[in-house]
Parts: sequence; C-alpha cells; structure tokens
Amino acid sequence: MVLKFRPSFFFLFLVFIFLLQQPDLGSASSPKCISTERQALLTFKLSLNDPSDRLSSWSGPDCCKWHGVGCDRRTSHVIKIDLRNPNQTLRPYDHYGEFEKGGLGGKINPSLTRLKFLSYLDLSFLGHIVSLRYLNLSLSMFSGEVPASLGNLSKLESLDLYAQTFLYDLFAINLRASNLGWLSGLSSSLTYLNMGFVSLSGAGETWLQDITRLSKLKELHLFNCELRSLPLSLPSSANLKLLEVLDLSRNYHYSPIPHWIFDLTSLRKLFLKSVRLQGSISPGFKKLQLIETLVLSSNELSGEIPAVLGDLPQLKYLDLSENSFQGQIHRFLDALSTNKGNSLLSLRLNFDRLEGTLPESLGELRNLEILELTGNSFTGLIPSSVGNMASLKKLDISYNSMNGKIPESLGKLEELLDLNLMANKWEGVLRKSHFLSLRSLKSFSLTTEPNRSLVFRTGVDKHRELPDRPLFPMWLQVQNKLNSVTLRNTGIADKIPHIWFSRIAADVTQLYLENNRFKGTLPQNLVFPNLLAFDLSSNNFEGPFPRWKTNAAELFLYQNNFSGFLPPDIDVLMPRMKKINLFRNSFSGEIPSSLCQLTGMEILNLRNNRFSGSFPNCWNGSSELNEIDASENNISGEIPESLSVLPRLSVLLLNQNALEGSIPDTFQNCSSLTHIHLGGNKLTGKLPSWLSKLSSLSMLSLQSNSFDGQIPDDICSAPSVHILDLSENKISGPIPKCMGNLTAIVQHKSIDEYYEYQEIRDSINLSGNKIDGKIPAEILDLTYLRILNLSRNSIAGSIPGNISKLGHLETLDLSSNKFSSAIPQSLGGISSLKKLDLSYNKLEGSIPKNLKFKDPSIYIGNELLCGKPLTKRCPRKKQNVVLN
Ligand SMILES: *[C@@H]1O[C@H](CO)[C@@H](O)[C@H](O)[C@H]1NC(C)=O
Ligand SMILES: *[C@@H]1O[C@H](CO)[C@@H](O)[C@H](O)[C@H]1NC(C)=O
Ligand SMILES: *[C@@H]1O[C@H](CO)[C@@H](O)[C@H](O)[C@H]1NC(C)=O
Ligand SMILES: *[C@@H]1O[C@H](CO)[C@@H](O)[C@H](O)[C@H]1NC(C)=O
Ligand SMILES: *[C@@H]1O[C@H](CO)[C@@H](O)[C@H](O)[C@H]1NC(C)=O
Ligand SMILES: *[C@@H]1O[C@H](CO)[C@@H](O)[C@H](O)[C@H]1NC(C)=O
Ligand SMILES: *[C@@H]1O[C@H](CO)[C@@H](O)[C@H](O)[C@H]1NC(C)=O
Ligand SMILES: *[C@@H]1O[C@H](CO)[C@@H](O)[C@H](O)[C@H]1NC(C)=O
Ligand SMILES: *[C@@H]1O[C@H](CO)[C@@H](O)[C@H](O)[C@H]1NC(C)=O
Ligand SMILES: *[C@@H]1O[C@H](CO)[C@@H](O)[C@H](O)[C@H]1NC(C)=O
Repeated sequence: MVLKFRPSFFFLFLVFIFLLQQPDLGSASSPKCISTERQALLTFKLSLNDPSDRLSSWSGPDCCKWHGVGCDRRTSHVIKIDLRNPNQTLRPYDHYGEFEKGGLGGKINPSLTRLKFLSYLDLSFLGHIVSLRYLNLSLSMFSGEVPASLGNLSKLESLDLYAQTFLYDLFAINLRASNLGWLSGLSSSLTYLNMGFVSLSGAGETWLQDITRLSKLKELHLFNCELRSLPLSLPSSANLKLLEVLDLSRNYHYSPIPHWIFDLTSLRKLFLKSVRLQGSISPGFKKLQLIETLVLSSNELSGEIPAVLGDLPQLKYLDLSENSFQGQIHRFLDALSTNKGNSLLSLRLNFDRLEGTLPESLGELRNLEILELTGNSFTGLIPSSVGNMASLKKLDISYNSMNGKIPESLGKLEELLDLNLMANKWEGVLRKSHFLSLRSLKSFSLTTEPNRSLVFRTGVDKHRELPDRPLFPMWLQVQNKLNSVTLRNTGIADKIPHIWFSRIAADVTQLYLENNRFKGTLPQNLVFPNLLAFDLSSNNFEGPFPRWKTNAAELFLYQNNFSGFLPPDIDVLMPRMKKINLFRNSFSGEIPSSLCQLTGMEILNLRNNRFSGSFPNCWNGSSELNEIDASENNISGEIPESLSVLPRLSVLLLNQNALEGSIPDTFQNCSSLTHIHLGGNKLTGKLPSWLSKLSSLSMLSLQSNSFDGQIPDDICSAPSVHILDLSENKISGPIPKCMGNLTAIVQHKSIDEYYEYQEIRDSINLSGNKIDGKIPAEILDLTYLRILNLSRNSIAGSIPGNISKLGHLETLDLSSNKFSSAIPQSLGGISSLKKLDLSYNKLEGSIPKNLKFKDPSIYIGNELLCGKPLTKRCPRKKQNVVLN
C-alpha cells in the first residue's frame, strides 16, 4: 500500500495540495515565513537533485516568496508546493532534453513532515488528511500499488494520478491498482478522477462497477490502463448521470461500442481512441445531444460515416481517423451542412478507406477550422465552395487521388495556416490568384507526379504566355511566417532568391525541396535556429556548401552540383547532425576531420564527389556512426585504423578511390560490419585471415586491387557472407575446398530469410586472378549460389558432372581458363541459368542439346567443341557417344 519513489531514476514530480478551507494564498506583501517551515523546506531541498538549479530562489529569509511555494495570508503557513517542471510542454517533442534537464530528482526528505499543513505528505499516511479536496500526483515517478487508504479522503473532489513516465517507453506503466473498492469511500465527493497510465489489469471485471458508485463523477480519465474488457452493460445501480467527460483510450477491448455509453446523456467529451472497437457507428449516438468532442480514431470501425453524426447539434471536434470507414462522405456532410447549429471546428478523417468526390456542401462548414482527409481514396476536384470556408486554418488532402485543377477559390482562405496538397494527381496551372489572400501560411506542402503537368505561374499579367518552365511562385516568396515547406516533384526550374531563405530562417523547422529543378546558389552564413531537417536533394543547385548555423539533424544535398570545400568548422555550424548525405556533387578538397566531432553522426555519405587527400583518422568518439560511404572520390593514403573502433559501424564503402596499404588488422574487432566495399583502390598485401570473426559480414568486395597470396581457409567460416568479390587481384593458388562451408550461401535459415536476401544475389567472383587447380567438388554444396564467376584464371580439370546441384545459378562464367573434357549434360538442367560463358577453354565434344543459349560467342575459343549454336558440326558417331 506504499507508493514508492524510485530514487535511482530521475523523477519529476508535482505535489499540489489545497486544503478544504479556501486557501488564502499570500501576495508578495503580507505573509512572513515561519522559520521552522523555512528550515524544513531547506532540508527538503538539500536531498533533491536539481541539475538546472530551479530552486535557486530557495535561499532568502522569506520562504513564502520562494518559487513554487505558497503561504496562507493569514496564518503564514506553507500551504502549497508546486514544483512542476516549467518545460512540461516540451516533453514529447523535447529533442534537446530541456525537459529532463529541468527535472528534479532525489528523495522526498521527511523534513517535509515539519510543515504543519504538508506533514501528511508522507504518502503512507495520506489517508489521514481527510480534509483534502484536491490531490494531484500526476506525472510523479511513483511505482507500485495505489494505496487503498486514498479511499479515506472522504472530501476529495479531484484525484489526479496520471502516471506517464516517458522514461524508457512512451506507454510504460509503473503504477497499478489491483482493486478499486476503495473508490466507494469517495462516492459522495469525487467529481474528477484521472488514473491514466495506472494499470487496472488486476482490478478484474468489476472495475466499472466500482467506478459507477461515484455518483458525483463528471470526469473520468482511464487512458492506457491495461483494461482488457469493456463491459457491454452497466449494473442497474450505476449512476453516471453527471458524467461529462469519458476517456477510455488505449485499452484493448475488441467489442462494438457498448450501448450504455448512449445513456450517458450529459457527455460532452468522449475519447475512445485505440480500443479496437469493431462494427459500425450506431444510431444510438443521437442520444448524445450535448456531445462536443467525439474521438473514435485508431479502431476497427467500418461502414459508411452515417448522417447521425452530422446531426449532433453541439459537435465541435470529430476524429474518425485510422479506421476502416468506407464509401462516400456525402450523406454525413449533407446532414452536417443542413444542421442549423452546425458548429464543427475540427473534422479528422485521415487514413480510412473513404472514396468518391468531395461534395459542394463542404462549403457550408463556415466554422470549420481543421479539415484533414489524408490517406483516403478521394477523387475529383476540390469543390470550389471551399472558398466559403472562411474559418479554415488547416486543409490536408494529401495522399488521395484528387485530380484536375486546384480551384482558385482556395485563394480566398485568409485564415489558412497549413495547406497540404501532397501526393495527388493535380493538373493545370497554379496562378497567383490561387493564393491571393494567403498571407499567413505556416506550412505548405505540394508534390506532383513526375509525369503530371502542374505549372506554376507567377506572372501578374494574365495574358502573357505561360513561361516554358515552372517558376518559384511569387506568392510563396512573399510568405514570411512559413515554418514548414515541402515542394517535391513540382518541376520548378528556377532560382530561389537568397532573400527568401533569410525571410524564413528564423521560423522554419522543415525544408523539403527535393526532386525539383531548382538552380542557383544558396545564401551563406544564415542562422536557422529551429530547423530540424532540410532536404535539397536532386536539384540543380550549385556553388559552395551552405554555411548555415543550425541544430538540424539531417542534411541532404545529394544529386546537385555543389562544389568547393566542406567547412572545417562544420562541427560548430551543425553540431547536432546525424545524417549527412552529399552523394553526387562536385565537392573537393580534404574531408575535414571536424566531422569526427559530430559525435551523434549516424550516416555519412560523401560518395561520388571529388574529395582528395587522406580520410580522417579520428573516429574514436563517433559511437553512433553506422554507415560510411565515401566511394567514388580520390581519397588516398591508408584505410584509417580508427574506423575500426566504431562500435556500430555496419556499412563501410570506400571503393573507387586511391587508397593504399593493407587492410588494418584492427578491423577484426568490427563485429557489426555487414558490408565492406574496398574495390577499385591500390590496396596490397595478403587477404585478411580473420574474416570469420566478422560474424555479421554479408558482403565483402575487394576487387580491382593488388591483393596477393592465396585465399585463406578462414574465409570459409565467415558465417554470414553472401557476396564475395575478389576479382581483379593477384590472388594465386587453388580455390579452397572448404569454400563449400560458406554457410550463408549453403542454407538460408528460413524461407522468409531467403526472400529477404533475394536482392543480395549470393555471388562469388574470383575473376581475373591467378587461381589454379580444379573446381573443388565441395563448392557444389553452395545450393543458393546465383552467380559464379571464375573467368580469367588458370583453373583446369573438367566442369563437375553434377554442377546442377547449384540449382539457383543464374550466371556462370568460366571463360578464359583451362577447363577440358566435355560440357556436362547436367549444366542444361539448371533452369534458372540465364547467362553462361565457357569461351576460351579446352572444352571438347558436342554442346549438350538442353543448353538453349543461342549466342555462339559463349563457346568460342574451344577448338574441339561442336554442335549448335556453333557452326562446326559434330561427327555423328562422336555425338552418340556423348549422349550416352
Ligand atoms: C527550459 O527550456 C529552456 C529552453 O527551451 C531552457 O533554456 C531552460 O533552462 C529550461 N528550464 C529548465 C528549468 O530546465
Ligand atoms: C494536475 O497537474 C498536471 C500537471 O501540471 C495538470 O496538467 C493537470 O491538469 C492537473 N490536474 C488537475 C485535475 O488539475
Ligand atoms: C484508511 O483506509 C485503510 C484501508 O482502506 C484502513 O485500513 C484504515 O484504517 C483507514 N485509516 C483511517 C485513518 O481511516
Ligand atoms: C504516370 O506514370 C505512371 C508510372 O510511370 C503511370 O502508371 C501513369 O499512368 C502515368 N500517368 C500519366 C498521366 O501519364
Ligand atoms: C558542376 O560544377 C562544376 C564546378 O563548379 C562545373 O565545372 C561543372 O560544369 C558543373 N556541372 C554541371 C553538370 O553543371
Ligand atoms: C579520442 O582520441 C583522442 C586522441 O587520442 C583523445 O584525446 C580523445 O579523448 C578520444 N576521445 C574519445 C571519446 O575516446
Ligand atoms: C587525385 O589526387 C591526387 C593527389 O592526391 C592528384 O594528384 C590527382 O590529380 C587527383 N586526381 C583527380 C582525378 O582529381
Ligand atoms: C580488439 O579489441 C580489444 C578490446 O577492445 C583489444 O584489446 C584488441 O587489441 C583489439 N584487437 C585488435 C587486433 O585491434
Ligand atoms: C566479376 O568481376 C569482374 C571484374 O571486377 C566484373 O567485371 C564482373 O562484372 C563481375 N561479375 C559478376 C557476375 O559480378
Ligand atoms: C567444413 O565443414 C565440414 C562439415 O561441417 C567440416 O568437417 C570441415 O572441417 C569444414 N571445413 C573447414 C575448412 O572448416
């Protein structure tokens, strides 16, 4: 029955207690702090961790003036302690940990018991404060069982135990109540009960019965309480006639909407989100004549959206998103628009299966501020009546199949802040008039399909010919409150005036301008304090890297023609970078070692630029870095050893550069590596004999270097290798027999895994070396091998007669070796084989008839081969012998 603090965690708590007699809270002038209480508070403070020094004001003589402390004006006693985190609202979106920094931790020191009016804060004795009227322990870091002694607080009107922790999992639950019987003690007082994030899974089937005894209850919040069943009927004694707010969201019920809900005729707000409700919307809703907020999102409800919802006279907020509602919305909207009291402010119908056109009656929703229809299958035009929706602040029609022209009446929506038209099939011309009155847009998103023709026209002169290319629209240029812009695939081929970036810099959080044909340079030395991500990829931007000061975590500039050096102080400019992608530009110079200082970096892609000099060797602090692609540059020097200390490094692509030296032995510690591509460099030395230690390695490409020596046996025990490319080196000796033990290629653990790996195309390429000996029979155990290239070596002997064991082979290249004897019949039995090259060997006899390849060049250079498709005919007798 004890609420336990968890002192080992950062806890964040709020204690907010009023006494029954109207508290007479002190103004700055009157009360004088009582010194024993001051001392108690100081002792209390001492046992707290307060990293952000929130309690710094807790030092002067008058404790009544301390932050969060309230005294009674007459008695001067401390009657209120409010230590809520000032950054409470940041919490769910808090990228920089401001909320956590402001958290208080530590223990509640028993010194608080010296505060006469708070002496019962010792929670095990909470039950003694019978005068308590309001108890708010929400967002405290309590764990354990809610004490039944709370039931002794017979005057309690408001009980808030909301217990979200946010600590490791957004929905984690630490607090539970296995019995709600104690609620009966509060039955004649309690009007507000919030037990969100308190597990009621142990409270049995009677939880609802216990609650229905609270005859004064107006608000009930049971969000995420692990309730497993929602009773379909109420006990006859139930008394919830006063209930105005009911929240049962995020509990799992699997049932239709229970009918007793329709008897709660005082309901103003009903939240039944994520409760796996099934079935359709019942006509019973018409009994809820006072309902203002109805949230039924994230369920399994289906059927048409019925007119009954449109008839509800007080409805302000309706959210039916993420269900399986189907059909058209005409009936519902028509009801809504003829409903005299129509007061709807917000309509959310996202991610359902709605279809058909949007009716003209939409324009009757004069009060509507938010209309979200994303992720359905609506078609046709936006009705031109949209211009009458004078209150509209947000319009989201993205991810539908709307087509045709965007109506000019959209431009009348003066209040519009957020317009999202992404992912539809718009056509026609976007004129200035479309956006005539849009002066305060905060968010604008528009994408078009690459082959649709939506043309931007900036011109004022209506009669001027259309420009032959879409321009960066002037109406967008003059918006100065933008904080999110997405323009994708619009075909805009224009310069963006530098002034526009300066104008939006202060507010913009997201800037997505990828896949257009923007050109010109970017302004330098701007500050983007709020930017989280920017993507300018796949355009024709040029000029230097944007020296922007930003806390953004993602920088995508790939597929442009930026040039020049990367700023050596990139770590100061963009300290929070996680993903940098500069693929395919013209950046040059050395890769700055300051990149190592970006310790949160996860992905670094510098591929296909003109970087030169050596690769930085300072990676010991980059604990998150898991993907490096610096291929196709002109990087010289050795492979930096410090790359091997990256604990998460999974993909290392340094191919097509000018690297020298050998592969450092330290890499044997990189057990998270999955892809290594070092091909096309000047690497030398023996192949590493520790590859089997890289237990996750799936791809090893070392081709076109100068590695020598033999293929080490160790390679056979590499447990995950699917792609092995050692081609174009100076490798000698035979193919190791143990190669048949490459387990990843022999046996896919399950069918699922096989499909997952399909694009991996298991392959072995040893082409262009000095390999000799014969093909070991063991290699035929590599059942899933798709590509085998042994060309341009000195391998002799015959092609194994049972080669068809490689039943998934698609490419077999044995050209330019010393293979002799006849081509085995079984080769023609590999039905997956699409490419074959046996040219320039010493093969003889007739080409098996079941080999269907028509191109003779795959057999040439074998003097003694005969039969189709070669022109050389086989002597009849010999052919018979072979066919035996
Ligand atoms: C609250 O967050 C702001 C930044 O948003 C920070 O400057 C301030 O220190 C934080 N307050 C506390 C008490 O941590
Ligand atoms: C309890 O405190 C939290 C956090 O400050 C607040 O959001 C909530 O509204 C309070 N509950 C009640 C019933 O006043
Ligand atoms: C408070 O309630 C508990 C459990 O319901 C009970 O055992 C206890 O005697 C009560 N205490 C007081 C002071 O009423
Ligand atoms: C656009 O391209 C897609 C796929 O390339 C095609 O399916 C579609 O029919 C095309 N649409 C038009 C209008 O050409
Ligand atoms: C890219 O920029 C470089 C250097 O400024 C220039 O030489 C080159 O012509 C540009 N390439 C294209 C395709 O514009
Ligand atoms: C990385 O190595 C440098 C130089 O050896 C050293 O000063 C630094 O403390 C190391 N950083 C980490 C995070 O280990
Ligand atoms: C590559 O870098 C070297 C110097 O490291 C330089 O001499 C050479 O010209 C560069 N090659 C190209 C194609 O830029
Ligand atoms: C591998 O890591 C261990 C522990 O970090 C270290 O002692 C050892 O020297 C490393 N081996 C190589 C070859 O770098
Ligand atoms: C094998 O390697 C050679 C040389 O690098 C390359 O040309 C060829 O495309 C590769 N073959 C396969 C099937 O990957
Ligand atoms: C290959 O596997 C077989 C059977 O599992 C085993 O006997 C043999 O020793 C292995 N060969 C090598 C070189 O690991």
